[in-house]
Amino acid sequence: MRKKIIAGNWKMNKTLEEGKILTSEVVNMAKDELRDDVQLVLCTPFIHLSNLQTMLADSTVALGAQNCSNHASGAYTGETSAAMLQSIGVDYVILGHSERREYFGETDFLLAEKVDIALENGLIPIFCCGEPLEIRERDGQQAYVQQQIEESLFHLSDEKFGKIVIAYEPIWAIGTGKTASSDQAQEMHAAIRKQITEKYGEEIANNTSILYGGSMKPANAEELLSCMDVDGGLIGGASLKSRDFVDIAKSY
Ligand code: PGA
Repeated sequence: MRKKIIAGNWKMNKTLEEGKILTSEVVNMAKDELRDDVQLVLCTPFIHLSNLQTMLADSTVALGAQNCSNHASGAYTGETSAAMLQSIGVDYVILGHSERREYFGETDFLLAEKVDIALENGLIPIFCCGEPLEIRERDGQQAYVQQQIEESLFHLSDEKFGKIVIAYEPIWAIGTGKTASSDQAQEMHAAIRKQITEKYGEEIANNTSILYGGSMKPANAEELLSCMDVDGGLIGGASLKSRDFVDIAKSY
C-alpha cells in the first residue's frame, strides 16, 4: 500500500547551526515517539544538504532538496543538478512548488523536464500542484490541477509514474493560516486519484502517495490526515519547529 509521508519544507530558513539543531531534535523525537510506518522527510536548503545527510545517515528520516535543474550539467551558473543531489545521498526533491512557479516562472513543461531528470538520477519527486484563490472562487480548481498533473507527469511510463509523490497545495492556504477543510482536501485528492486511475490504472493510483500542504499544523493535522485519500503532508511553517513537525506525524 501507499506510503504515509510527512515532509518538511524548510524553504529559505535556518542557518547551518539552526538546521543541525532542528535535525537532531527531529531525529531523536522520531526515534522515541513515532511508529515506523510514517516516513519523515526533511527538505532543506541546498547548502545544508551535505552536512545534514551525515546526521541522517543512520536514521529513518529521509533527506530532500527543494528544487533541481532541468539540465544535466554545464554552464548554468547557480544551478544544482539532480546528479549532484543523488551523489550526496539526497532521496527526495520537491518540484513545482507554487513559490517556484510564481517567483521563478516555472511552467508545467519545464517541470516535466525536471521530473524526468530527477527520476533518471534516482530521486523521488514530490510534485506540487494547486490552484490560486481566484480559480477556487469560480470552482475551477479540479480542471486547473488536472492540467498541471497532465502536462508535467502524464508523459511518464507506468514504472516511472509509480515513483512519483504528489503534493496538493492550494495556493490560498500556503503560509496564510487558512487551511483547506478536510472535505475540500478529500474532494481534490480523490479527484487526483481518479485522474491517475484513468491514465495508469487502479493499482498505480492506489499506490501513489498524495500529500496535502497548506498551513498544516498539529491542531488541524489529525482531521486532514484522517481523510481517505490524504496520505501525508508537505509542511512549511510548522516544519521549522521540531515539536510541531513531529506532533503532526504523530497525529496519524
Ligand atoms: P505552509 O507551507 O505549511 O507554511 O503553509 C506549505 C508549503 O509551502 O509547502
